[in-house]
Amino acid sequence: MSISLKTEYLGLSLTNPIVASASPLTGSVESLAQLEKAGVAAVVLPSLFEEQIEHEAQEVHHLLAFGSESTPEAINYFPELSSYNTGPDTYLQLIKDAKQVLSIPVIASLNGISRGGWVRHAKLIQAAGADALELNIYFVPTDVQVSGEDVEQRYVDLVRDVREVVSLPLAVKIGPYFSSPANMASKLVEAGANGLVLFNRFVQPDIDLETMQMVSQLDLSQSSEARQALQWIGVLHNRVKASFAATGGVHSREDLVKLLLVGADVVMIASSLLKQGPSHVCILLEGLHDWLEEYEYTSVGQMKGSMCYDHCPNPKGYDRSNYMKALVNYTSKSV
Ligand SMILES: Cc1cc2nc3c(=O)[nH]c(=O)nc-3n(C[C@H](O)[C@H](O)[C@H](O)COP(=O)(O)O)c2cc1C
Repeated sequence: MSISLKTEYLGLSLTNPIVASASPLTGSVESLAQLEKAGVAAVVLPSLFEEQIEHEAQEVHHLLAFGSESTPEAINYFPELSSYNTGPDTYLQLIKDAKQVLSIPVIASLNGISRGGWVRHAKLIQAAGADALELNIYFVPTDVQVSGEDVEQRYVDLVRDVREVVSLPLAVKIGPYFSSPANMASKLVEAGANGLVLFNRFVQPDIDLETMQMVSQLDLSQSSEARQALQWIGVLHNRVKASFAATGGVHSREDLVKLLLVGADVVMIASSLLKQGPSHVCILLEGLHDWLEEYEYTSVGQMKGSMCYDHCPNPKGYDRSNYMKALVNYTSKSV
């Protein structure tokens, strides 16, 4: 029996549902080519950050205003970013180079939170030849005066602003922390998003007790984290007209299969690639193929969404009753 792994995401036809998520591994043409060879169906480049763009604009302004009096300190204003990703021009060049070398779709990523001049870079990204744009809205509302409504409006305005300047397929990557994630998802789609990438992993701060400094450490994910996307993609599939990408915690074929069953169009991976290397893609794809064969599906399309909220035999598993059941069924040696 021939089995098709094909899927569609943001209107792009993909040979299979595995996409390399934004990470340092997608930041050079060499590693992008390795990922394509390993079998990923599309790649998302690391984000170009609002701070980088604004900083560069301030630098130009500063140089024009003060000429040779410009200080080297100012140039090092965002040292972390300049070592991750070298700036807007290099970013646009990466898109062009990737498009020349790869035959799979190249998705660029813009990362920001405020309305402003940096949004015009969406247009430059389109002109550089990207196949789609992922807008990563990573906002941490620490101001007690800012209401949930304000935050939501900010997301919607930003998506509208970007939609206005590009005709590219647009995906929006968001975190899970909304009072009503399903309603927020539908607002973003109304504002012009063609797809949603669920979910951003927010970096939680920690304290270094030796230096008494706040520190940020990025830990790679665990499989259990995939349940957050599993729940909300399952709820949204068929109800919000958009493509869905699951990101966060996909390490095994089981993680991949479950996310497709709830309705993900693609599954994005970063941590598992960073841990295992590009060859892990082949293991996941073979695993998916074998699973489909074992369960007598002929294609990814046939199994996709069959366990979403509207189709699964026990949709209550998605809501509060699931929580009650989990509490009641909890067993431990010490209780
Ligand atoms: C080292 C590293 C760098 C990342 N850089 C970006 C980035 O530039 N833009 C972005 O949207 N996500 C970025 N991510 C998040 C990943 O794309 C992904 O959404 C997240 O790690 C969850 O997926 P995973 O469990 O497969 O790692 C980064 C993740 C890692 C580990």
